Amino acid sequence: MAGLYKALRKSRETTPHGSSKAMYFSLLEAAHIKRAGGPCAGFLAAQLQATRGHSTSMPTQAGQLNSWLAAHNETVGRQYQQYLASRQAGGPRRYFHSKAHALYFLRAVAPTKMVDGAWLYGVTRHWQDTRLASLIRIYLEELGDGAEAMNHVALYRKLLRVNGCDDWKTLDDQFFTQGAVQLALAANTETHLPEVIGFNLGYEQLPLHLLITAYELKELNIDPYYFTLHTTIDNAQTGHAHAAVEAVAEAMPLFGDSRQYMARVLAGVKLNDAGLSTLEIIRQFDLQQEVVRILQAKATIGRFMHANRCEIAGKSINAWLADSDQMVPFLHAMEKTGWIKRHHAPEESPFWKTFAGEKAPMFGVFTAYEQQVLYDWIAGDALENMPMLGRLGRPWRMVEKQGLAREAGKNNPHDNVYDLRTGGRIARLPVSHDFNQDQVSFECHVHSMDDGQALMEFLAGWLSPGKHHTPLGLCATRYFKSYLDSPF
Ligand SMILES: [Fe+2]
Ligand SMILES: [Fe+2]
Repeated sequence: MAGLYKALRKSRETTPHGSSKAMYFSLLEAAHIKRAGGPCAGFLAAQLQATRGHSTSMPTQAGQLNSWLAAHNETVGRQYQQYLASRQAGGPRRYFHSKAHALYFLRAVAPTKMVDGAWLYGVTRHWQDTRLASLIRIYLEELGDGAEAMNHVALYRKLLRVNGCDDWKTLDDQFFTQGAVQLALAANTETHLPEVIGFNLGYEQLPLHLLITAYELKELNIDPYYFTLHTTIDNAQTGHAHAAVEAVAEAMPLFGDSRQYMARVLAGVKLNDAGLSTLEIIRQFDLQQEVVRILQAKATIGRFMHANRCEIAGKSINAWLADSDQMVPFLHAMEKTGWIKRHHAPEESPFWKTFAGEKAPMFGVFTAYEQQVLYDWIAGDALENMPMLGRLGRPWRMVEKQGLAREAGKNNPHDNVYDLRTGGRIARLPVSHDFNQDQVSFECHVHSMDDGQALMEFLAGWLSPGKHHTPLGLCATRYFKSYLDSPF
């Protein structure tokens, strides 16, 4: 059985064009994303082929997109009202059974969210082409226009960190397919512009699951800001959903055959189906399986860390942990010997006390996410009766989000020097010290460049999906937007 499971898992881990995960991390390197073709182009072609037969309600005529957009938003709005009515009538949560389930979701979609907007990166090198203005605007807004507090990737990274989910890079290959597709589109934009436009059109539309996710995350004491932000910034009237429709018409003159163009746009729309869907990820959660996975991961080190006199059911803990197939019997043994009291408050279980609480002997062994999984599993049928603090943790605080660095572009752009930390404009270059040498050399380089085209190319390199959320990437984004808004 274990062999069959491993074989099934392995078969999901490779596509005809190799591992999605390897592709994902390779394309995150700025140098690789510039070099299109090869395995990356093959991967994209295979994903386009795999989704070609999928259905979509998107119209084939560009002129019908606005009415489609209005109808789509009305349908989603009505469905959300029905959901709210069912919740107000006492109905259960639709997606997340417990906080651990919601955190599992946040971690599982991390490979996609950590490259939010990436599919548009390839258009930045065409910053002078007004037919791509809407696409460039969307990309810069995904990057928060260079303000860290509004950069979607930085926001998601913080959400992961706050909830102990930042070990997402260890996820299986299947979770990386959607993100790898987004990066592959960025790498192949020169030959796939209509597909990029179509992918953007599909991605930027408001889905019902976004509204429900935000509602249930808040209920489970998880900051929903990343998700509520997307219900506002992607809005259909002035937001990304609307700009994505505009982008279809704006770029059409670049292509002689509008029917062929729209066919490729639709292929890009369907590419949104590549990899696991949001609902598939939510549905595949199995609490006990997640407990087993966590113990298996800890066992690689834990098998050497216990004294041999520590025994459970006549077997040393080191021996239990030495065999990853023994985790389910190990859990049963802990239940039988009273180390775990399922369906009771976890604080009553000696196992829980070994790692939870300030002076616990195994303090720090499990992340906040892993502790939540263990809490929910031990509490079992009694979970909903547990006190709020134990079940949902300390309340998250609504932190006032910093506004955008709106002053960009007001003065002569060649006088710009930005403070890396606040994003505000400062008058002159900072004095160099050990903590800002990268910034000073970056600023000196920017201010020494007279050739506008070369400067924008240099800045665009810092806008890549792997770099734009770093301090220099954010600074480069502010310069890029500033120069874009105030031509030379
Ligand atoms: Fe976004
Ligand atoms: Fe967006």
